[in-house]
Amino acid sequence: MSDYTGVVSGALTPERIKDALKTVAFPGLTRDLVSFGMVQHVAACDGRVKIRLAVRTADESIPERLATAIEGALPPLGATTVALEIVPPAAAPAPTWQTVPDPWADQVSLASVRHVIAVGAGKGGVGKSTVAVNLALALAREGLRAGLLDADIYGPSLPILLGLEDGASKVRMSAEKHIEPLDAHGLPMISFGFFLGEGSPAVWHRPMVSKAVKQFARGVAWPALDVLVVDLPPGTGDVPLSLAQAVALSGAVIVTQPPRVAAAEARKAAEMFRALEVPVLGVVENMSGVFGRGAGHTVASELAVPFLGEIPFDPTVVDEGDRGTPTMRERADSATGLAFDRIAATVAAILGWRRI
Ligand SMILES: Nc1ncnc2c1ncn2[C@@H]1O[C@H](COP(=O)(O)OP(=O)(O)OP(=O)(O)O)[C@@H](O)[C@H]1O
Ligand SMILES: [Mg+2]
Repeated sequence: MSDYTGVVSGALTPERIKDALKTVAFPGLTRDLVSFGMVQHVAACDGRVKIRLAVRTADESIPERLATAIEGALPPLGATTVALEIVPPAAAPAPTWQTVPDPWADQVSLASVRHVIAVGAGKGGVGKSTVAVNLALALAREGLRAGLLDADIYGPSLPILLGLEDGASKVRMSAEKHIEPLDAHGLPMISFGFFLGEGSPAVWHRPMVSKAVKQFARGVAWPALDVLVVDLPPGTGDVPLSLAQAVALSGAVIVTQPPRVAAAEARKAAEMFRALEVPVLGVVENMSGVFGRGAGHTVASELAVPFLGEIPFDPTVVDEGDRGTPTMRERADSATGLAFDRIAATVAAILGWRRI
């Protein structure tokens, strides 16, 4: 490829390169480098391209995978050499070239909430919602003022798990036009499910999801809380990104199942939270026993984060979920309840909570 073909090298502007970077997904994820806000600097001269990315990752294969993906996207624009510099976000120098606004510029802390923690997993059906509910109830037993936010816009399940299927008819707005949380077994709680009506969020475009999550995450009149536990939809899509950009998250709890495929998805979720600058507080292994065990421990040590504990596979949990009476209300002293208690104690300690 020649850099003397005026037409081709003339086309190689930082804008065109940045457009090309919009087609490059972060390795293992579906989101592109530009919308993650990772592109710090782009320069082009005579077919030579320099790109600086701000990336924090524990995965040593990421720089090379990024370089391969970027090189694959650029040649059609006439690039002869590509110099890729990867810097950790905190150390990144102020961007000298930027056409999109900083996606984090708008992030706020919720005034009455000390810690917002998200419960996520790459994979569906591993027990995120069950863990979110029982973790919040167990944190309350630890003495923390806990609340629950169901941000699973694609399949909100907390209304069922908490026996609040009629929640939509009970929700009220405050005088300041904030949503008043409902009472769920003693915890303040709000679900996207109360507001979805017949609309199908599966067809929402990214800006709609982002706007809805932002309004929802910020628009609730939470009482003073030590911790707000947020239940996320499965996967590494728009909701966690929008949530992390809307409110400051203290951390994320990753739920995995024993099989290896679930563990691989858990790693992806952890990678996503790290890319979003959200610390991973630890890994919970759910439904341990029947499908084997140990994946949670392995994933946690690979990610160098705490292993928070395992919840046994317990068929009664399904029944409790269907009846809307969580394990931590019905059977706090069962083996399953005690497992949630231990995990909550560890999470509380990580958040700096000390029982007096
Ligand atoms: N420890 C457990 N033992 C037995 N069944 C469990 C356990 N934890 C969760 N379940 C059951 O597994 C199913 C999926 O759980 P849950 O809805 O919490 O998963 P999820 O990851 O939130 O799913 P989704 O991805 O659809 O949001 C439910 O029927 C639930 O009752
Ligand atoms: Mg769920």
